[in-house]
Formats: sequence, structure tokens, C-alpha cells
Amino acid sequence: MAAKKTVSKTTITRKTSTSGTSSSKSSGDAKKAASSSITKDLILGSVAVLALTAALSYNFVKSTVVDMGFFLGDLHPLNTAGCEPVKGLQACEDIHIHHASGLAFATCGNAESRKSWYPPMGATNASASESAFQDKFVIYDITSGEYEVKELVGLPAGTDRVFHGLGVFERSATELTIFAVNHRRTGSVVEVLEYTIGSSEVRYIETIQHDLIHTPNDIVATGPRSFYVTNDHLHHSGPMRHVEGLQNGHGLQVIVGPSKVVKLSKNPLAETLPSAPRHVVDTVLFDDGNLISTGTVAAVDRKRGAMLVGTAFGTLGLIRCPIPKSA
Ligand SMILES: *[C@@H]1O[C@H](CO)[C@@H](O)[C@H](O)[C@H]1NC(C)=O
Repeated sequence: MAAKKTVSKTTITRKTSTSGTSSSKSSGDAKKAASSSITKDLILGSVAVLALTAALSYNFVKSTVVDMGFFLGDLHPLNTAGCEPVKGLQACEDIHIHHASGLAFATCGNAESRKSWYPPMGATNASASESAFQDKFVIYDITSGEYEVKELVGLPAGTDRVFHGLGVFERSATELTIFAVNHRRTGSVVEVLEYTIGSSEVRYIETIQHDLIHTPNDIVATGPRSFYVTNDHLHHSGPMRHVEGLQNGHGLQVIVGPSKVVKLSKNPLAETLPSAPRHVVDTVLFDDGNLISTGTVAAVDRKRGAMLVGTAFGTLGLIRCPIPKSA
């Protein structure tokens, strides 16, 4: 993200400076101006290229180093007082809170075996231990603090379960359709599940597989059989997948890492001061990786005063925190 921003900013600066130079010169000075403009442009260009290269490599090195957990200096956890891991769960990559019932649906895996099979991270060893293919579908009750691991009734025995994003659609106040991204060894798919609040079972209904859903990550449900799904890469596996990973600065697998929850909100200053940024971003929670490592999702339930944080590769998969002050 940061790298992309740098590119567009550099382009805009150059365009502005070129047109500014030519329009402010009289015709007699045109030749001189043009040549000085070219020289200036070349210099600007080289500076821009240098700056860009430096920025790109700096970001790449920095993100790689940070991803690996080195040279982080003094890290002071922020707002983690009162955070408690939910025992027995690892690597909960997504959490979806159903606010009316106070139930949270979470997809949790095995932190260690996920390093061998998790296509979104480029880990595609199909001979990984069986625990890599037996993720849990969890329903956590925010009110009681208890959870149940749900069997998916009707899912053929031996089907890989490697869950990622979840989307929930309310067919009625109590009847839910749940879409779950599943990175099976036979391909990444979206599983359609149904759950009725208060019922003891989650039912598997059908599987959606399509060429356009090749590296699915997260889902926003819009109907009983409609949803938006994001693909996080162009290539599912193979050499190009790794080239892509390097371009994104995420070529190395993230195994441990500090985690941060940030909040983006409207900047009230922007209404009176046009030059002020329209949004402000605040860190509301930060951890050095001892409690929350490789966090990927934070879900807030204001009514019950809880924030749930899930991790992609953490041995503590689901952490429950009080809602941080500024969140
Ligand atoms: C894949 O996983 C199996 C089982 O853990 C292991 O024996 C094998 O060496 C792994 N293959 C690669 C290429 O890492």
C-alpha cells in the first residue's frame, strides 16, 4: 500500500512541475526554458527514480524485517489490559459477530500445520499433516464466554477444511446462511452453511467453485446465494505466486509478529479546514506478539463490551479484550 502511494505521488509532482515551468516563460526564453526544463526534468526524474527505488526497497526491507519480528526495538503493548485468550483455539483467521444474538462465528486452525498448507500465504504442501486440513468451525457465545466446535452436518467425511473469510446473511432474525472460504487441496471454494440460532447443528448445504474465485480471502454476504468475494492474489500457486508475493513485499511467510488494531474515522477538522486530512487513523490496541501474534481481524460488540481479535498463525487463536478506550 505504502509503495503504491509513493508511485502516484511522484507522478503527480513531476507533472505539476513540468507544466508550471513552461506556462510561466515568455516565448523569447522558450528554447532556453525548454532545455532547462528538460535538464530539470531529467534531474527531477532521476531523483524521483532514486527516491522511488529507495522507498520501495526501504519498505520491502522494513516490512520483511518487521514481519519476521526482528529489530523491533522496545515494544510497549497498548490497551491490552484485561485481554484474555479463549482457551483451546488456535489460528482463528476470521470472526463474524451476529450482534442480535451475541454469537461470534469463527474459523480456527492449527498454527503449526498451517505453515505447510495455507494457500493464501503460499504454503502449498499437500502432504502436510492431517491437522492442516481439519479446521474448526466455532460458535463463541459472547455473553457466557463459552464456545462450541461445530461439526458441519452433511459435509462428506474426509473433506478438507481450511477456512479463511466468513460472510453471514440473515434469511430471518434466527435463520442464517453462512458462507465460508475453504482452501481445499482440490481448489479453493466457498462452502454454503446454514445455522438457526438456538439449534445444536450447523448444516452444510453446498459448495460453490468458480474460475473467478481463485484465491478467495473474505466475503460480504448480500443474499441467500449472493455475496462479494475478494481474491487476494492473481495466482493460486506455482512460480508466479511467489513473484507476486515478492512484489507485494510479503514473499516471506509471516510466522510471528506484533499485532495492531487501528481505527479509521472522519476528521472533524476537515469540515472547517479544507487542507486537513479527511480521515484520521488511531492505534487503539497494540501487542508485541506475546499475546496477540499475526492478528488479522478485530470484531467489536459494543452492547456486550467486548472486542474479539483473531490470529492467522497464533497459538492463541482468539483473544477477548475489553473495548479499548478510543475504539
Ligand atoms: C511436506 O510435508 C511433509 C509432512 O510434514 C514433509 O514430510 C515433507 O518434507 C514436506 N515437503 C516439503 C516440500 O516441505
